[in-house]
Amino acid sequence: MAKRVRKAIFPVGGMGTRFLPATKAMPKEMLPVVDRPLIQYAVDEARAAGIEQFIFVTGRGKSAIEDHFDHSVELEALLRDRDKDDALADLRETLLPPGDIAYVRQQEPLGLGHAVWCARHLVGDEPFAVLLADDLIMADTPCLKQMTDVFEETGGNVVAAMEVPDDQTSRYGIIDAGGATGDVRPVEGLVEKPAAGTAPSNLAVIGRYILMPEVFTELERQETGAGGEIQLTDAMARLIDRQAFHGLAFEGERFDCGDKLGFLEANIAFALSRDDLGPGTRDMIARLSKAFA
Ligand code: G1P
Repeated sequence: MAKRVRKAIFPVGGMGTRFLPATKAMPKEMLPVVDRPLIQYAVDEARAAGIEQFIFVTGRGKSAIEDHFDHSVELEALLRDRDKDDALADLRETLLPPGDIAYVRQQEPLGLGHAVWCARHLVGDEPFAVLLADDLIMADTPCLKQMTDVFEETGGNVVAAMEVPDDQTSRYGIIDAGGATGDVRPVEGLVEKPAAGTAPSNLAVIGRYILMPEVFTELERQETGAGGEIQLTDAMARLIDRQAFHGLAFEGERFDCGDKLGFLEANIAFALSRDDLGPGTRDMIARLSKAFA
């Protein structure tokens, strides 16, 4: 079995109801943070971690994602004619090598576990990554690269982990790390969206996973869990006693772009962090804070 993580799944079938009407005719993964769509940050992060094959689990109305990662012959010709070299270079960055990108449809929105299972034939019998584009992570070393580094040491399953406040544990998959501390913690239990007051800890799974292919066998059962959905967390939980399983408290700032405030925060943070936009954004925030105080 390949030891290296070469393939990544991007579940992009979700409806994006929280961003309506913006997402009525546009996939939520195409919402821009500053000047690039959310999905591109996820793909770039995967590339930086050495991923070579990109598998999108899509749904109805998601064709803009396919177009985004494709050549745009007319646009490129126009930019070339007008000597817009910078814009051309930005476009080239969106291209993935021919044949390295595959799409499979999740025909019904039955949950994250079901979406991942839909990609089983494309992944085959090797470890793979899953990236949820809603979770945007700003980090010096891209989060998935931090995780593949851990994977090379530990093998087995590795999930990204982050402490969340008590009143938010019911929104996440929560890790029981048996009280372990440190960056890399053995996972002893996992529970999807525990009811308030029942979470085994405050350590939440964030949308980055390195998983062993045996998880597909567990997903095959098609058992439903929290919210009546087929949950990835439940399938992962059944691997814990059989395989190495670690949570990595990654370094970096995570933005929940599935939430309006989180999405705004990401836009502001990414703008502030850029040389071309940082100073202007800082002035703008100061001015607006006074104007709308
Ligand atoms: C999904 C997972 C959950 C995880 C979360 C991270 O939930 O099911 O375990 O903690 O992503 O963002 P969702 O946000 O899709 O409800």
